[in-house]
Amino acid sequence: MKTIGLIGAGHIGSQIARLAVAHGYSVVISNSRGPETLAPLVAELGPNARAATPAEAGQAGDIVVVTVPLKNYRQVPVAPLAGKLVIDTTNYYPQRDGHIPELDNESTTTSELLQAHLPASKVVKAFNHIYAAQLTTDGLPAGTKTRRALVIAGDDAAAKATVAGLLDQFGFDTVDAGPLKEGWRIQRDTPGYGPRRTADELRKDLAAAKR
Ligand SMILES: NC(=O)c1ccc[n+]([C@@H]2O[C@H](COP(=O)([O-])OP(=O)(O)OC[C@H]3O[C@@H](n4cnc5c(N)ncnc54)[C@H](OP(=O)(O)O)[C@@H]3O)[C@@H](O)[C@H]2O)c1
Repeated sequence: MKTIGLIGAGHIGSQIARLAVAHGYSVVISNSRGPETLAPLVAELGPNARAATPAEAGQAGDIVVVTVPLKNYRQVPVAPLAGKLVIDTTNYYPQRDGHIPELDNESTTTSELLQAHLPASKVVKAFNHIYAAQLTTDGLPAGTKTRRALVIAGDDAAAKATVAGLLDQFGFDTVDAGPLKEGWRIQRDTPGYGPRRTADELRKDLAAAKR
């Protein structure tokens, strides 16, 4: 059984954990306050879930999901994630995260910041433009005409293929926006950020995005 390690177990992290256990993964979840604070979620998720520290969750994961407020990305442990596929769900909200000059001047993107913090990991941007609650309501079987699609971006083709497979298992088509530096096309305030979109619609949204 493959393990997904989660660094962050809030709105998005808990939902990804629910999808993961429902699709046959084991999960190791973590937050900033300590494993004991996650007991209710572990109880809900069942025998294939446990809580740990962020470093332990990173160590345990075949895939690691970083799903914390962006302001805390530098606290994500580096060594346990080396060599691993790391999914980044973060978005930049200055009112929450404080101002980050290189994002304000659009010289980089959130996932490139995480990639720079985790130089030996393979970061793939995913799950950033869907409301947390919809992760467990909007999935549909592969081949459904109206199936919702989600965007990925990343610099490692094999890592992206793995994430596309995960999304497919979870009930979503994938639209590849290209390398991490193209991730801005699905950042806050772009056309594709938030609404339910099929793959064709989302491709148009990405093309129409303006910085
Ligand atoms: N909510 C959405 O619908 C949504 C959708 C797409 C993307 N996102 C993005 O995904 C990220 C997570 O959003 P969210 O809504 O899930 O946030 P959230 O509900 O506030 O949860 C954040 C989680 O991160 C944990 N955390 C914070 N700092 C940490 C650290 N240094 N080490 C380990 N864990 C840490 C928190 O733990 P404690 O509670 O113990 O502090 C909490 O479990 C954000 O960047 C957000 O912009 C959110």
